Amino acid sequence: APAPLIDGIGRRISYLRLSVTDRCDLRCRYCMSEKMDFMPRSAILSLEEMAAIADRFVARGIRRIRLTGGEPLVRRGFEGLASTIGRHLDGGGLDELTLTTNGNKLPEMAAPLRDAGVRRINISLDTRDPDRFRYITRWGDVDKVLAGVAAAKQAGLAIKINMVALKGLNEDEIAPMLRWCADEGFDLTLIETMPLGHIDEDRTDRFLPLTNVHERLQQEFTLVPLDFSTGGPARYSRVEPLGVRLGMISPLTRNFCDGCNRIRLTASGKLYMCLGHEDRVDLKDALRTGGMDAVDVAIDDALRVKPARHDFRIETREAAPAVTRHMSVTGG
Ligand code: GTP
Ligand code: 5AD
Ligand code: SF4
Repeated sequence: APAPLIDGIGRRISYLRLSVTDRCDLRCRYCMSEKMDFMPRSAILSLEEMAAIADRFVARGIRRIRLTGGEPLVRRGFEGLASTIGRHLDGGGLDELTLTTNGNKLPEMAAPLRDAGVRRINISLDTRDPDRFRYITRWGDVDKVLAGVAAAKQAGLAIKINMVALKGLNEDEIAPMLRWCADEGFDLTLIETMPLGHIDEDRTDRFLPLTNVHERLQQEFTLVPLDFSTGGPARYSRVEPLGVRLGMISPLTRNFCDGCNRIRLTASGKLYMCLGHEDRVDLKDALRTGGMDAVDVAIDDALRVKPARHDFRIETREAAPAVTRHMSVTGG
């Protein structure tokens, strides 16, 4: 059997984030510039190549795959890729196939996703207010996303709402969002803005440390820490008396890299070993020149150099972002 995925400091890699496109139908201000240079089509892996690489990762011990973007649902043929990967579920080695989406296309995609084997999805929703939503996303329609959320619920998918905490933009909506998630039976995750890629504004103006949010929430609710982790960055608690599960992703105020179990493949076939570093190998090139054996060699090379931790720091004004590629390239 092919060698399992263990990195240079002994961490077992079992989770792959697969970015199927760097494109998106929205332009959230903390994520993208209004004018973006997306990768040319010629640089992108075909869906067949993506599926072949995913197969190989499953054979090498990847147990969970999260499909991301950009916005994964804008890639044509996405359902086909999801069901191809989904055939590894139910005893085929893969424990979970999930995705992270902005929800715009869920009204038509929720049922096909469930049919592909997806049971749980993360939906980005920073505000439920139509005007604020349009402002943050530059042209999004919150009613479309809410219809997508409803369709996903209707299809029986478990839902986690992702809310980026934005100073002066949605901080007053955190408690209402918690109540809404409690009513709907969703989990909620709050996220600190991370310094990834050039945007048209200064992220420091919107940075809201989740340590502050935690203190504020404690005045109104009781946050009971949960002994639960996905190997990801979120630290979870149960918010009482609402009974809702709350995740907090605080890369800037609390580092979580010791238990990191994840790697990420971009739409152009680059395998990044950390969200916050440039260390990567080119699996597209390996696949096209040397086939799957060359892919294995490249993966082994990458494992040896997986960084011990990211070193995101709270951005200082006018400083360049820590990492120049956007979140949408590496899929978060
Ligand atoms: P699980 O698979 O359930 O752990 O979900 P998740 O919360 O990791 O996935 P999601 O795609 O919803 O990502 C939520 C946020 O977490 C995004 O802003 C990601 O960029 C961020 N994130 C995910 N993994 C990492 C990581 O390894 N390091 C850092 N710094 N952020 C991450
Ligand atoms: N910092 C933090 N979160 C971000 N997201 C996109 N860009 C950033 C950033 N720079 C969020 C999206 C989505 C998740 C995948 O990442 O809102 O919920
Ligand atoms: Fe698109 Fe998500 Fe980035 Fe918003 S945060 S622009 S929805 S990829």
